[in-house]
Amino acid sequence: MNRTHHCAQLTKSHLDATVSLAGWVDCVRDHGGIIFIDLRDRKGITQVKFDPQDNAALGAQAGHLKAESVIAISGRVVPRPDGTINATLPTGEIEIAATSLDVLNISETPPFPLDDIGGDKVNEDLRLTYRYLDLRRPKMRKNLQVRHRAAKSIRDYFDSQEFIEVETPALFKSTPEGAREYLVPSRIHAGQFYALSQSPQQFKQILMVAGVEKYFQIARCFRDEDLRSDRQMEFTQVDVEASFIDREGIYALFEGMLKKLWKDVLDHDLPTPFPRLPFVDAMNRFGVDKPDVRFGMELIDFTELFKTSSFKVFASTATGGGAIKAINAKGLADLTQGEIKALEEIAKSLGAKGLAFIKVEGGEWKSPIVKFFSEAEKAALTAQLGLTEGDMIFFAAAPWEKACAILGRIRLEAAALLQKRGKLTIRPDDWQFLWVVDFPLMSHDEAENRYVATHHPFTAPVPEDAAFLDSDPKKVRGQHYDVVLNGMELGGGSIRIHNPVLQKKIFEDVLKIPADVVESRFGYMLKAFTYGAPPHGGIAFGLDRMCALLCGTTSIRDVIAFPKTQKGQDLMAQSPTPVTAKQLKELHIATVMPE
Ligand code: AMO
Ligand code: AMP
Repeated sequence: MNRTHHCAQLTKSHLDATVSLAGWVDCVRDHGGIIFIDLRDRKGITQVKFDPQDNAALGAQAGHLKAESVIAISGRVVPRPDGTINATLPTGEIEIAATSLDVLNISETPPFPLDDIGGDKVNEDLRLTYRYLDLRRPKMRKNLQVRHRAAKSIRDYFDSQEFIEVETPALFKSTPEGAREYLVPSRIHAGQFYALSQSPQQFKQILMVAGVEKYFQIARCFRDEDLRSDRQMEFTQVDVEASFIDREGIYALFEGMLKKLWKDVLDHDLPTPFPRLPFVDAMNRFGVDKPDVRFGMELIDFTELFKTSSFKVFASTATGGGAIKAINAKGLADLTQGEIKALEEIAKSLGAKGLAFIKVEGGEWKSPIVKFFSEAEKAALTAQLGLTEGDMIFFAAAPWEKACAILGRIRLEAAALLQKRGKLTIRPDDWQFLWVVDFPLMSHDEAENRYVATHHPFTAPVPEDAAFLDSDPKKVRGQHYDVVLNGMELGGGSIRIHNPVLQKKIFEDVLKIPADVVESRFGYMLKAFTYGAPPHGGIAFGLDRMCALLCGTTSIRDVIAFPKTQKGQDLMAQSPTPVTAKQLKELHIATVMPE
């Protein structure tokens, strides 16, 4: 069964050589009795010819082969006749005149075509049920290779910077502050649970106390979240922590990693340093903390203008502490009633009361609200939004953050509609990285009427703001940073609190976690910090998201060998499943089914 070559190797330089190849039958063609087989392995395709005039039995056997069967062949490398050369294949100038054929396994007819185009058209559930076939498709094979390259590039980079990879436990303790956790029952300790680690956050900080100084890990993380195209219940982080480092140090370290990664994987030179955008500016200009800056259509603020307006909806919001924001979707005045309705529904799902608009069409403003606008208001809108024929303006009037978020989403929807009409081009390989910085340390949770950490409770305040921790926590910025690429949050991190007194104060006085709960959840960390904790900080990157972008796909499921569906199921192995009463008993667990 030994192969002498792989299926992308043989060229004219091998003419007359006797070779052995093995792989899968990509397709079988019968050209007037001569059987041609495209033989495929992980490297590529080689054409194999069975001529009944040379060997009738072999030719007949080959004629019966079915696609995706596994075979081994031997034969002689011969040139393809003129006119049959395939310039798109590295092996396109030769073929193998077969002298032997070993059928190693016959394949059933696959439930969907395994080429890129045919495979992309089938339902994803079918692909996931037969993932072993889906992964045979060239595109999916390439995605796995890119992911391997990316992980290797990252490991090499951190190694060159003298970071060491340290593994941390997946079975951790429950600390229900961040995302919802997966619980794992203990058999030995009845009624007690581990939680699957959401991230190595606490361990990497402890490693800094342990004097490791430079840590990284390509780490599996588990979060019981509602799944989306960019979220899985288990995903992989490139997790990093370093001692004696400040924000500038982290930015430089990570820009270096990304620069090398884009070079290694795509042979692309990323310009560094990346621009930095304060959170408030990101919200004001793009309506989101992970802006896609590959196109304009920025939000413009009209709060001052409408304070005295006779359009009561805007005036009351503007004078009541809210904001009026607008965007100009240039060229989108041809939106249909249905499309406008759909956008309004999206706005409402984000809490908007409505989605006021102006269409500039035939030299006129077509809008249900212009009748309320004064000449001065119209002039200001025209000037600041640069209004011309064909424009479509959307407004949001709401509390500041909500108004930004609504229009931020409408901006993305409008861009998609413009792209569909061929009026806007957004290139997937236009790599616009940026750092979003100066996030508020705390945000106020209206439902629970208390402050919650914007990033996580270990994030250090910006030193010059720390004085407001007691008087006005909302004013305090955190030393937190996110790296954003083309509308996707790729990673985030912060400089941490290393002073146990300040950490305890944040837990108890600002986040209002009762002292006994702080002690039981984080007591070990606070204690560790009393034994000489160095100043430290770090970051974590979503490897799945990064690979999706490197592969030019929007779904991280395409760069994970065995992902779960949106409903958290493994369709191939079929999980989750019920377990036996005996297993449950051993774990001291009784289940109560929902009504
Ligand atoms: P954070 O929670 O922001 O930070 O996560 C870091 C990055 O991980 C990726 N990510 C995910 N990818 C796929 N599926 C998910 N469900 C998912 N959740 C997160 C994102 C995100 O930017 N310990 C901190 C980091 C730190 O402070 O150093 C942390 O986990 O790309
Ligand atoms: P109304 O006077 O409530 O009928 O609203 C007139 C127009 O303004 C409609 O097109 C609404 O969709 C829109 N509108 C109402 N409230 C808001 C709001 N808070 N922000 C943006 N548009 C709004």
